[in-house]
Order: sequence, then C-alpha cells, then structure tokens
Amino acid sequence: MHKRTSLRRLAAVAITAGFVTGATLPAFAQSDPIRIGLILPMSGPFASTGRQVEAAAKLYVAQHGSTIAGRKVELIVKDDGGTADVTRRLAQELVVNDKVTVLGGFGLTPLALATAPIATQSKTPMVVMAAATSSIIDASPFIVRTSFTLPQATIGIAEWAPKNGIRRVVTLVSDYGPGIDAEKVFVARFTQGGGQVTDSLRVPLRNPDFAPFLQKVRDAKPDALFVFLPSGVGGQMMKQFTERGLDKAGIRLIATGDVTDDDILNGMGDAALGVVTSHHYSAAHDSPANKAFVEAFTKANPGMRPNFMAVGGYDGMRVIYKGLEAAKGAGGEALLATMKGQSFESPRGPVTIDAATRDIVQDIYIRRVERVGGQLYNVEFDVLRAVRDPGRG
Ligand code: PHB
Repeated sequence: MHKRTSLRRLAAVAITAGFVTGATLPAFAQSDPIRIGLILPMSGPFASTGRQVEAAAKLYVAQHGSTIAGRKVELIVKDDGGTADVTRRLAQELVVNDKVTVLGGFGLTPLALATAPIATQSKTPMVVMAAATSSIIDASPFIVRTSFTLPQATIGIAEWAPKNGIRRVVTLVSDYGPGIDAEKVFVARFTQGGGQVTDSLRVPLRNPDFAPFLQKVRDAKPDALFVFLPSGVGGQMMKQFTERGLDKAGIRLIATGDVTDDDILNGMGDAALGVVTSHHYSAAHDSPANKAFVEAFTKANPGMRPNFMAVGGYDGMRVIYKGLEAAKGAGGEALLATMKGQSFESPRGPVTIDAATRDIVQDIYIRRVERVGGQLYNVEFDVLRAVRDPGRG
C-alpha cells in the first residue's frame, strides 16, 4: 500500500517534471545567435531619424559587447524609407526568416502601427525607439517604448507659456498622430493656464509648404506660434518664419523640442536664438552620463551631434540588453517581462519603463536656444519630474 502510493506519487512527479521541463525548454539552441532587428527610415525625408537611432544603437553594442547569456548578438538594420507597407513586410521577414528575438526602431507613428499586429501574432517584443503618438502603446501588448509621447513633451511648454506673458497663440502641427496629440494637449493645458488659442493649423506630413500658413499667422499676429513638426523638418519652417518676417512682427516661436532638434539646430543660425521649447532630451543636458554619451557618440560619428532620436535608440538597446540578460536570452513573454519595470540613468536623466503601461516615465525640461562655445544648444532651465504620458489620463 505504502509502496504503491509512493510509486504513484513518483509517476505523478515524473509527469509533472516532464511537463514543466517541456514547457520551459528554451526555443533556441545555445549556438543560435540572438538577433535584434531594427527597422528604420535610413532613406527618404526622415533619414536623419534612422541615422541617429542606428548610430546610437551601434554605439551601445560597441560599448557593451556582442555576447548575452553565452550567445552571440547580431544587430540587423533594415531601411523602410519611411513607408508603412515596407515596414510591415520587413517586420514579417525579420520574424519569419531571420527569427529575430526582438524588433526595434520605428521612425514614424504609422510605421510602428503597421508592425504592431505582427508583434502581437508572433509574440515578438517590439521596442518603439522613435515614434511618439500616445496611442501606439495600445496597439500591441508586446510594445515597450523608450522614446517619448507628444502629450508628455507638450505639457512643459503649454504650462510655461501663460506664466511668461504669452496670452494668444496660434498652433501649427503636422497633420497626423503626434501632431494631433500635440495640438490637443497644448490647447487644453494652455487654456487651463488662462491662455487663448485663436487658430489651429495643420500642415501635411510630407512636403509641407509652410508659406501660406505662416502668412496667415503673421496676419493674425498672436503673441506666439506653437509648433510641432517631426524631427528633421524644423529647419525649413524656421527659415520661412524669418523670411516672412514673423520674428520682426513680434511673434514668438514656441515648440516641442522636435523643432529645435540637436541634429539640425546649428544649421538654423541666429533665427533660432531665444526659442523656448520643452522636451525630454538636450545634447546640453548637464550630467556625467550625458557628457560621456555625447563624447562617445561624437567620437564614433565625427561631425554628428546626438539628438533625442539617438537617445531613444541608445536606451532602447539598454532595455533590450538588460532584458535579454535577465531572461537568459529568451524572447517572447519572458523578455517582455524583464523589459518592463526597468529604471535607470539615461543620458536624458532618470527614466522608468512603467511595468503597467510599458511606456516611459521621464523628466521633461524647459529649454531656451542659446549660443554656447560658438554652437547653438537647447539650454535647460526648468524641469517637470517623472512625467507619465498625460495622453492616457
Ligand atoms: C512620430 O511619427 O511619431 C514622430 C516622428 C518624429 C518626431 C516625433 C514623433 O519628432
């Protein structure tokens, strides 16, 4: 009786053990490389975003090595040219043919949204390093974000403006996800602070002609024009802002930091001096971590200055590396779990990947364009601490 019970128990234990072993058996061989697939606009109008994210991701790998949990790490970079159909096809190929453990990059909102269903279906974690529409995070439970959201960046300037003599504002945004987010949040917060938005203008995402819009603003003569444009486009707008004489008419320019992007700021010249923006990263951020980052980035990429896209890529790789280490090289839900909840000191300042929302919590700085050592920088002068995405309430 006693013997039979223990035999039966033994059998039960064996079955259970067998089941458990089967369920936890890794889906990879120790000799398989861990592949990280980045999809970025390396060509086309948003190529500067791809260039920045790629340079930063490669810097992270150079600094932290190409071995995780005893396996070789391979970084694969694919160019989608900024076109969603191409992003979707590349994501499919990376998952099915290259068997990547994790997807990353995503230079524009539509490109991230096109990939989200593939991440969900294949249970592949997807790190959004650049795109910034609030709702992206809801498109797949496998998305983790290391960039920012437009509501997060916008509240800084929307709260600063009415406290600093700006009463009447016209808004001008790119007519797609992040622009609509920025407009909505700016109008709500600025109005709450006692300001008045007299007009809201939207320009096409591709090949915008700012002239007719800026003429309209000049005629309306508000205290300031609030602008959101995706990274890389701000220079064209700034040129036409001065050519149309808006500065001389006494209209101030305020914006999210996308417009005074560190990559192109120096090329804007004196017209940019004094422009106040809010954002999560400035190359001039005063911390030892950022000084080391800017120095290493510039050394590895002569003539280039890291912008907020670079930091999204660098931190994205950090989240992937630490996640893979903790998950012992596993992907899927195991990796998703170890990426969530990470807190660390980024070149931008302290950040957390909120375990519940999978979105980034970070400081938002108020900055003014100044000349420092002969170069233009966004110099931070105030900060909102540990900002969650206000776009999600
Ligand atoms: C986006 O498409 O989500 C996007 C792109 C560039 C930015 C901000 C947002 O600077």
